[in-house]
Amino acid sequence: MNYTFAQYQESADYLKEKLGSFRPKVAMVLGSGLGFMGDEVANAIKVPYGEIPYFKASTAPGHKGQLVFGQLEGQDVAVMQGRMHHYEGYSYEEVAYAVRVLRLLGAETLIVTNAAGCVNKDWKAGDLMLITDHMKFFLESPLRGENLPEFGPRFPDASHLYTPALQELAVSAAEELGISLRKGVYMYFPGPQYETPAEVRAARILGADAVGMSTAPEVIVAGHCGMEVLGFTLLTNMAAGILNQPLSEQEVLEAAAACKDKFSGLLRGCLKKL
Ligand code: HPA
Repeated sequence: MNYTFAQYQESADYLKEKLGSFRPKVAMVLGSGLGFMGDEVANAIKVPYGEIPYFKASTAPGHKGQLVFGQLEGQDVAVMQGRMHHYEGYSYEEVAYAVRVLRLLGAETLIVTNAAGCVNKDWKAGDLMLITDHMKFFLESPLRGENLPEFGPRFPDASHLYTPALQELAVSAAEELGISLRKGVYMYFPGPQYETPAEVRAARILGADAVGMSTAPEVIVAGHCGMEVLGFTLLTNMAAGILNQPLSEQEVLEAAAACKDKFSGLLRGCLKKL
């Protein structure tokens, strides 16, 4: 099923009613372990996904499932506390639905974060990575089906999905904060099973530094509708097969919790510079 432009508008109109004159400039999709930043938003207006026409619930652990509007570091933001994933049973169009709605509300920039497995053997769990590009080879695109020209063209360019100027901004924010920031390529896998060691070896040969189950669908849609994008990955674990131990969700959540101050500090540093 494809959503119509009128449906996106209906969702946006519902939110406009709630927001009065407020309009977000920056949309933030916060992945595993970072959702708490939504609770730090000043003058917060919170809207549960379940209330918004056509929004889906977020069922992944640690994903609260609400939009929080307000100010962070002086920026007018819309924070998605929890995202939708394809492995929850949603189509890619459903996964990225909120991005288009936030675009209609006026958001010009999308900041995305995720937790992922580290493919690059020179790096370690706990490292933060600035996403310079991604690979998404599997299943269909979130843009499959009738194109909605109100958002963007049929065949959108993807040469610079992750905005170069925002990457520079992130690097300088990290330097100022003394946070070491890797730069690398995120490779999307649909999950929910973690990758096999053979898939991780293939990912490395293809040029990936991280493997994860989110982000690429939202970024494709953001690029299509002309948003600037800044993406970060927290490498919560070495990807499958690198260490002689099984992966577990527990390990991922613990690593995310251990790095939350560093990660949220970097995001705040970036927001200040926007
Ligand atoms: N693979 C995919 N997704 C992930 C991983 C991983 O190793 N760690 C956290 N999210």
